[in-house]
Amino acid sequence: MPKVTYVGADGVTAATLEVPEGTSVMKAAVLNGVSGIVGECGGNLMCATCHVYVDDDWNAKPAPAVEVEEEMLEEAAAEVKETSRLSCQLVMTGELDGLVVQVPESQV
Ligand code: FES
Repeated sequence: MPKVTYVGADGVTAATLEVPEGTSVMKAAVLNGVSGIVGECGGNLMCATCHVYVDDDWNAKPAPAVEVEEEMLEEAAAEVKETSRLSCQLVMTGELDGLVVQVPESQV
């Protein structure tokens, strides 16, 4: 099963989860109590509380953000960077095995 590593906002703490293909990075985080990812709207692109920074080595690999995701990212509580994504839109595939994301300082 593909794995995702969630790095804390401190850049030090980390948790690695096995995430079934077809499951979003947000949903796996919420179901497993990963700190720093809220997912308030349940993955419907209506909240931006699932904001993450995709590790530089992985930034080109997930499918690119659609326009509505880009717009919702503008509502994110923390600084938005080039590597910012909404983790509810990062759906696991075998190709993303080993994905690394970092949670931002805050989500609200
Ligand atoms: Fe609300 Fe991702 S969970 S936009």
